[in-house]
Amino acid sequence: MTTRRTQVAIVGAGPSGLLLGQLLHKAGIDNVILERQSADYVLGRIRAGVLEQTTMDLLDAAGVGARMHAEGLRHDGVELSFDGQRHRIDLHGLTGGKQVMVYGQTEVTRDLMAAREAEGLATVYDAKDVALQGFDGATSAVTYRHGGVTHELQCDYIAGCDGYHGASRASVPDGALKTHERIYPFGWLGVLADTPPVSHELIYSNHERGFALCSMRSATRTRYYLQCPLDDKAERWSDDAFWDELRRRLDPEAAESLVTGPAIEKSIAPLRSFVAEPMRFGRLFLAGDAAHIVPPTGAKGLNLAASDVHYLSRALIEHYAERSDAGIRAYSDSCLRRVWKASRFSWWFTSLMHQFPDTGAIGHQLQRAELDYLVNSRAASTAMAENYVGLPLAT
Ligand code: APR
Ligand code: PHB
Repeated sequence: MTTRRTQVAIVGAGPSGLLLGQLLHKAGIDNVILERQSADYVLGRIRAGVLEQTTMDLLDAAGVGARMHAEGLRHDGVELSFDGQRHRIDLHGLTGGKQVMVYGQTEVTRDLMAAREAEGLATVYDAKDVALQGFDGATSAVTYRHGGVTHELQCDYIAGCDGYHGASRASVPDGALKTHERIYPFGWLGVLADTPPVSHELIYSNHERGFALCSMRSATRTRYYLQCPLDDKAERWSDDAFWDELRRRLDPEAAESLVTGPAIEKSIAPLRSFVAEPMRFGRLFLAGDAAHIVPPTGAKGLNLAASDVHYLSRALIEHYAERSDAGIRAYSDSCLRRVWKASRFSWWFTSLMHQFPDTGAIGHQLQRAELDYLVNSRAASTAMAENYVGLPLAT
């Protein structure tokens, strides 16, 4: 077995791990990332693409915001489509000038990977059998296999950034975690296509046939979603079948404007709400999807990962630079206050926009009443806008 030492061992090279690694490096804190997959595999994942201002600011602080500002699309509003009409939620006007940035998570990951490589920072891809050791004691370590050899990475702290199926949360002793979960009775069938967007802003559609979302990655690349049964399969959907169903779920103007083309990616994702508490165990910190999952309706997954990383990077910098552990002690509570508010918003928006088989006619009527109230009440629209652009980070 080989042995090396670092200050912070980061498990997972997704957005959480890469962003944390960059912010720690900028503060002079040595860190090593261990990633189970290859870099190409990580980049091959298609994920969401709406960034809150807080996330944009963190990417700038990490020194990786240039391409986002150059290629990203700033949006001032979103549209809600129901009963054959579209209603715009003026995010910019209702939040005192805030916006969101449409920029794919794949691109965020690419920018973070490139920066890490340019700085010559240590990332071990294809690290197998990652095992966390002794994080509840005076020291901690992570062992892993790479190139047929077992390695030990001794460290002061471990950042569990390895997602919902990772080793970090699974390493926490039984009974030490309280988990909360809601599984939604449907999935999202997603398609990526090199076609121009239906509209210059995102369209969320509540239709009796099911939810639909028109999103985008650029002026020439679009991302669409259809609510589908949990047991549906992407391979059952031809491109034409997808486009025909999407048209049926859009208002006439949007349906008319839809430009179709070959799907370059087609997949189904389940929807769940999940929160694990607390998010710290001694020297182990959970961040991002390792600690929480939100249904994608509110586009909060990446933004919550970024806010966890904000709190964790500040806590570790404070520990090393100021010899204070106040941030470390407050980490879990600071993250969870924002996690629960984003989870609530994601659940609310999902409940409002999707068809739920077991709520019957009254469920449909209650949705209609809430949509009517939402688009005709400045107070209700403001509440949605504040959550969609992202609530402030606690100071
Ligand atoms: N050992 C090492 N790496 C692991 C392990 C393990 N045992 N298990 C998982 N990983 C890696 C995965 O391969 C992945 O690259 O950890 C990384 C976790 O990345 P994400 O799942 O993307 O989670 P996170 O970085 O928190 O980003 C959250 O990604 O899934 C989306 O919607 C989510 O937008 C949100 C964002
Ligand atoms: C996406 O572009 O993938 C996307 C956008 C907004 C959402 C969810 C997904 O709410």
